[in-house]
Amino acid sequence: QPIRLADYRPFPFAIETTRLVFDLSPSATRVRAELAIRRTGDGDAPLVLNGERLKLLSVTIDGQALSANQYAVDAEHLTVPETPDQFVLTTEVEIDPLANKALTGLYMSGGRFCTQCEAEGFRTITYFPDRPDVLSRYSVRIEADGGLPHLLSNGNLVDQGSLDGARHFAEWVDPFPKPSYLFALVAGDLDVVTDSFVTMSGREVALKIFVDPGQASRATYALDSLKRAMKWDEEAFGREYDLDLFMIVAVRDFNFGAMENKGLNIFNSSLLLADPETATDADFERIEAVVAHEYFHNWTGNRITCRDWFQLCLKEGFTVFRDQSFSADMRGAVVQRIKDVRALRARQFAEDAGPLAHPVRPSSYLKIDNFYTATIYEKGSEIIRMLKTILGAEAFRKGCDLYFERHDGEATTVEAFIACFTETSGQDLSDFFAWYEQAGTPAVTLTSDYDAQASVLTLNLRQSTAPTPGQPTKRPLPIPVAIGLLSQGGESLRDTEVVLLDKDAMTVRWEGVAQPPVLSALRGFSAPVNLTTDARPSDRYVLFSADPDLFNRWEAGQTLARDLILARAAGAPDEVGEERYAEALGQALVDEAAEPAFKALLLSLPSEPDLTLLSEEPADPLALHEARDALRIRIAIHLGDLLRRLHGEMQSSGEFSPSAEAAGRRALRNACADMLSADPHDENLTRLVGHYEASRNMTDMIGGLYPLVCIGGEAREKALSAFYDTWAAEPLVLDKWFSIQSRDPNPDVLDRVVALTRHPAFEPTNPNRLRALVSAFASFNPARFHDPSGAGYRFLADQILTVDKFNPMTAARLVEPLGAWRRYKSDLGALMRQELERIAVHPDLSKNVLELVTKSLT
Ligand code: ARG
Ligand code: ZN
Repeated sequence: QPIRLADYRPFPFAIETTRLVFDLSPSATRVRAELAIRRTGDGDAPLVLNGERLKLLSVTIDGQALSANQYAVDAEHLTVPETPDQFVLTTEVEIDPLANKALTGLYMSGGRFCTQCEAEGFRTITYFPDRPDVLSRYSVRIEADGGLPHLLSNGNLVDQGSLDGARHFAEWVDPFPKPSYLFALVAGDLDVVTDSFVTMSGREVALKIFVDPGQASRATYALDSLKRAMKWDEEAFGREYDLDLFMIVAVRDFNFGAMENKGLNIFNSSLLLADPETATDADFERIEAVVAHEYFHNWTGNRITCRDWFQLCLKEGFTVFRDQSFSADMRGAVVQRIKDVRALRARQFAEDAGPLAHPVRPSSYLKIDNFYTATIYEKGSEIIRMLKTILGAEAFRKGCDLYFERHDGEATTVEAFIACFTETSGQDLSDFFAWYEQAGTPAVTLTSDYDAQASVLTLNLRQSTAPTPGQPTKRPLPIPVAIGLLSQGGESLRDTEVVLLDKDAMTVRWEGVAQPPVLSALRGFSAPVNLTTDARPSDRYVLFSADPDLFNRWEAGQTLARDLILARAAGAPDEVGEERYAEALGQALVDEAAEPAFKALLLSLPSEPDLTLLSEEPADPLALHEARDALRIRIAIHLGDLLRRLHGEMQSSGEFSPSAEAAGRRALRNACADMLSADPHDENLTRLVGHYEASRNMTDMIGGLYPLVCIGGEAREKALSAFYDTWAAEPLVLDKWFSIQSRDPNPDVLDRVVALTRHPAFEPTNPNRLRALVSAFASFNPARFHDPSGAGYRFLADQILTVDKFNPMTAARLVEPLGAWRRYKSDLGALMRQELERIAVHPDLSKNVLELVTKSLT
């Protein structure tokens, strides 16, 4: 049965201290837990601890072994019906980390022990109240073989030494009470990169990043990012680090991106290791963001944690907002905003429009792991952003300060968070709270009437939100809509003003508008909504060339391109419009004032998954692909000379720099290459082959390889095999080799993807490799995934069933592309549904997959 928010009850005991002793051994690790427990609630409540896949060896209370009738064990709990009011419970269990391919709890990656406990992995390590509102002080002893020289856990290292034989030990104490999901342990042979940071109050913090032997030079960018993040959090939020040591460990086998364990973050190596030869600019950018994200959790997540998992957005949405703000300061606000909005639309809007739509704070779940979603993270961040817009920066910061002060050391709720802003701003935020409770992307329409005689502009705004599963009717939300006005000639007529649309419909009168204006609405994407306006293409061209709000300048171009592609896909191509668009795009690309990174974004057309979401009819992915390609060809032909010129000008000869400016130049050059590949005549082909062969960093190399893969034929084969030969020994680069092939738009791609599942380098037990091939194909190659034969769907369903046997969390993440079946034309939708049904009736399905498949079918 589902877990419900309304059923929340505090745990009736406090775990004052937690002493853990690990005797590490790959297939028989022993864990002794001594819990100092005090009853805090109801006098007769039994002690019920979580525990799964544990072999219980002994259980004692205050040193007395319990007899069989004094406790009960089932597959998920240890229950002691009668306990004293204050006592020490000691359990000893045995676990098998080597056999653990689910990558939750304690497992092994490349011969190293590591952990991932969020959300509910700790219960596979020992018996414990594995819930975020039980905070305890931990001390940890690790004993292991000398072949595992580094023994790490949370907090401070207080002792270490050797034991009999070839074994040794380490003792760690974490002074900060924490919930079990923040526990971490690592043991292994690792190289370490060390540095230090002096906090604003003058304390020195040792920084250590642990990586696979030989990889130390690839950790320097992460280390640099960490120091910048620490500084930024002091300046932007007044948050200082609190331990003497901050450690990060990179592991190759990891279900997610990274984890904020207190003092010992654990990262997927793809989000930590980078050098110019093996990592792209996008990797550098993500590393900077994720290192910051996990670091920022030290306050938003660790010092103040969640009362229960329904409050997940309290830490995740806020922390994403903080990392996005950091990236904006590091790399430029406009480009960052465009990228964030692109990701939001592609992932979160899609989720909100499908069977898995849920509120940012859901009210029930079967497996919490399924709720680490774009909605909770990205829409959660948008809510904080709107809060800041509505309150203003100063009041926002005051509310944050109060939150940090008042709730430090607590496990709290979204209500308590919002109450801080209500208090410091004096504004009533009760309507605003609906953003947390209501699923679905609001549709906002904006139309206007201009009265030239009276110089009055009337704005008519409306909102509505379509029903989502379990929420048939919707309330109006307070939506901040930032609007500015331009003249027909592109001059600014009126600066941005935020209109708060908080009813189903409202009308705003703006006086003193002296000429017929062009509206620039939802500037900076001021709210996570779908906006429809009565703008004519000519208005959009004004915005595209002149809007001082660069987000909306980009947005105007995207909207123009989208409408052209959708018209063509529907069988009504607007050839004149396409020429006009290509012409305007060319103008934008020669604008001296615009940064290359921004131009690169102008040059990338709406993606195929985005177009699917935006098409009003049930989508035909192949038709969308072909229509998009037709526009690319037109641009490549119309702007051929310009694209080749820019491609040449953006080439850098100097030394590699990961800076945003240098990355922007590479991005523009690669966007030109990508566009030119749509028109692969000899001159372009020679240029692209030259680009690939001369590339000296991974960004340029991938930027050259993908166009050749798209062109197909001999160019593709040669480039792919050269790439493989160069990088066969580098797992992170090989992931790219797999993923690029799964995004191959040529019709034979599914056969190639299936063949790649038999490649010796394909390891389905490694989530990065699996996602590189399988998720990339299903999510980013819609034209081929949605093959009318249904073979793409069958392939994905087979993969889900295979992976579910050993890694339910990662298997569950593969379900989403099939879940969108309602959005596709009926013959495709029926085939997708058929595969979901085939999965649903499979015996021994995990709860994780079962929950998503069931929800997708209803
Ligand atoms: N808290 C981690 C982060 O920073 C992610 C943990 C993911 N865990 C999960 N069960 N999905 O975002
Ligand atoms: Zn997070």
